[in-house]
Amino acid sequence: MRNLCIVGLQWGDEGKGKIVDYYADRFHAVVRFNGGSNAGHTIVHNGRTFVFHLLPSGLLKKKRLLIGPGVALDPLTLNEELGMLAKEGGEADLMVDERCTLVTPLEKELDSFIEGLRGAKPIGTTKRGIGPSYAMRALRLTPRAGDLAKGDFDLSSAIAFYRTFLKEIPDLSGWTENSKKILAGRTGDVGGEIMALNDAGHSVMFEGAQGTLLDLIFGTYPFVTGAHTIASYVPAGLGIPNGALGDVMGVAKAYTTRVGGGPFPTEIPGETGEQIRKEGKEYGATTGRPRRVGWLDIVGLKYAVRLNGVSELALTKVDILTKIREMKVCVGYSIDGEETGDFSKALPRLAEAKPVYRTMPSFYGLELRENHLPQAAEQLVEFLEEELKVKVTLVSTGEERSATMQRHA
Ligand code: IMO
Ligand code: MG
Repeated sequence: MRNLCIVGLQWGDEGKGKIVDYYADRFHAVVRFNGGSNAGHTIVHNGRTFVFHLLPSGLLKKKRLLIGPGVALDPLTLNEELGMLAKEGGEADLMVDERCTLVTPLEKELDSFIEGLRGAKPIGTTKRGIGPSYAMRALRLTPRAGDLAKGDFDLSSAIAFYRTFLKEIPDLSGWTENSKKILAGRTGDVGGEIMALNDAGHSVMFEGAQGTLLDLIFGTYPFVTGAHTIASYVPAGLGIPNGALGDVMGVAKAYTTRVGGGPFPTEIPGETGEQIRKEGKEYGATTGRPRRVGWLDIVGLKYAVRLNGVSELALTKVDILTKIREMKVCVGYSIDGEETGDFSKALPRLAEAKPVYRTMPSFYGLELRENHLPQAAEQLVEFLEEELKVKVTLVSTGEERSATMQRHA
């Protein structure tokens, strides 16, 4: 079987955690390839909710867990999650790539510091030090996970840099000792491990964090995250050949959400937005912030499908719309009276874009029974397949694993 990559097609929080958990059985290992503890992947199992920020979502299925070099690694978060898993009686079969850039308390300080400099237009980062950790790697100022594990760890250049603008530098000796212990015996070459698994006939799943529209280059810059979120970052970020990427499954919610600042053409003001937020529990899994809520945006989805080379789609949270009387999808933008369906063209003026909506049959009161999609929902799915030219393979109708409809094999 081929490898499979799962990526978010919106601004994150599409339900990737649930989809990864659903498919994990078919794969030998689950690999995180981007982002860091800014992610919040939620899995609901037997009525209990688990949120993971750093460990791949295959952990409840006891899969081999790999954290690739494209991840910004906060050893303390890792330790917390390993602790959570141990309490559940599980032990992670984990390898962290020795090339991972680290998040020390200094990068978290810098995250807040820079947000402060942005004045009235903050990005609204998760303050997990993600952007600064990647920046410190680009500046070649911070040691990496492997250096720390080996004890060959020198923060003096990084500290000299931070002293130029931070008033106080915390003592990092405790952090260093602690982190070294956490990483001891757990670092290695994740790309090499993936190739060895593939050679032995085992396939792996790549679990994307964030969403396409938060990609550092192709997203709604500057309101983006500090790394790449698209599928082509899998080979580049893990050091494996392009052919090892395998199939690409895009995950999209039946509506849209966004946390933090930045343009959001289909944002719903007022009561309907509030109702979707409440029904969909749209509060940040990492920061607890209320998420901004909007209608499904086909223009953004088309762009995301193209960027990722999506071959199949999973549509999530369809059940939430059965509590909502209205149902709209955005099929174009109007900017200065001119209509476009091209997200890339609209991007520089996205803040002024007025959505052009198509009213769809409402999902209100629909009963979602096992393996049967009511007509209104089926109509949306078929509309998406036609517009996006991809198959909708999965429809998620609830939080639990069992509330998942497989439309195609
Ligand atoms: P998952 O994997 C939703 C957003 C932040 C902010 C911007 C930059 O759960 O889908 P950062 O801390 O990354 O520098 O913040 O990106 N953001 C997310 N939004 N889901 C996520 O991850 C996110 N990770 C970052 O809210 O707007
Ligand atoms: Mg999230």
